[in-house]
Order: sequence, then C-alpha cells, then structure tokens
Amino acid sequence: MKIAIIYHSETGNTQKVASLIAEGVKKVEDIEAKCMSIDDIDKAFVEEAKVVFFGTPTYGGSYSWQMKKWLDTCKIKLAGKIGCVFATENYLGGGADNAELALISQLLVKGMFVYSVGAGDGKPYTHFGAVCIKDGNEEQKERVLIFAERVAKNVKKLLKDIH
Ligand SMILES: Cc1cc2nc3c(=O)[nH]c(=O)nc-3n(C[C@H](O)[C@H](O)[C@H](O)COP(=O)(O)O)c2cc1C
Repeated sequence: MKIAIIYHSETGNTQKVASLIAEGVKKVEDIEAKCMSIDDIDKAFVEEAKVVFFGTPTYGGSYSWQMKKWLDTCKIKLAGKIGCVFATENYLGGGADNAELALISQLLVKGMFVYSVGAGDGKPYTHFGAVCIKDGNEEQKERVLIFAERVAKNVKKLLKDIH
C-alpha cells in the first residue's frame, strides 16, 4: 500500500516531521512511503496512494498560504483517498490545532476520508493529527512515529476487511 506524504516547509521543521511520518508508516509491513515537497510532487505516486498525509507549518494560527495555494490549484484527484494531517509551530498554543482543522476542512471539500486515529487506539491520543513545536522534542517525535504507524496499520486493516 502506497502512502504519500506531502509537505510545505521553508526552514526544514515540517520536512523533518514528514521524514518521521515516513519512518512511522514503514514500521507496518508492505507499506511504501514517499515524502514530497509541494514544489516537487510525484504525481503518479500520489495518484496510486491510498493515504495522503499533508504537513504544514503554522502561519498566523492557520496552515500556510503555500499549502493552501497548492491545494487550491491541485489537479490530482484526491477524492476517495484517506487524508491525514500534521503541523509544526514555534510556540505551544501557537495555532497548530487550528492549522490542522483548517487543512482538514479543505480535505473534506476535496472528497477525502479524513482520519486522525484520535483516541481510537488509546494513549497517546492524536486529536486532529501530529503536532510538533519546531521539529519536535523526543516525546513529540515519538508521538509522530506512533501516529503514523497507527494510521498505516488501521487503514491497511480497514481495506483488507472491505475486500
Ligand atoms: C509567516 C509566519 C507565520 C508564523 N505564524 C506562527 C504562528 O501563528 N504560531 C506559531 O507557533 N508559529 C508560527 N510561525 C512559526 C512556524 O510555524 C514554525 O517555525 C514552523 O515550524 C516552520 O516550519 P518549516 O521549518 O517547515 O518552514 C510562523 C512562521 C512564519 C514564517
């Protein structure tokens, strides 16, 4: 199962978290993951992916205008895929939750199935998606890995149960 990880990153924090997402999903067998900046998208891979993660820095308490522009002009059909989000911010309470929710609304409008694991697998809960302050401390990084692994495991099971 292919998982695409699309991110916007100016100073590298969100890119580092994207790499952690890839590391986490690859803990599950038969997962092929690819990180890609919004400036360098592997269209064929995204089209084949069942899950697409979107990572953004928090800008003014919401998601970045660059990610918004990319989504607004995206020609790739995202409908029917599972969408997950992660965000970085500089300050605790800096708006990453809101950035994720705003990003999620865009994914819903695109016709994606949005998934965050939430409290479904017990602690640590991932409310709307993974959040890191800058590129994360050890605890935050561990939560990113757990979030990503759970998404891959649960989506793989869901698709297997359907078929
Ligand atoms: C224009 C701009 C607005 C920002 N607004 C916020 C903000 O509202 N809250 C916050 O905590 N951090 C804010 N930041 C900090 C970034 O979200 C943070 O440094 C992020 O990790 C940068 O990601 P990147 O290294 O992937 O570019 C802002 C940064 C920029 C450049």
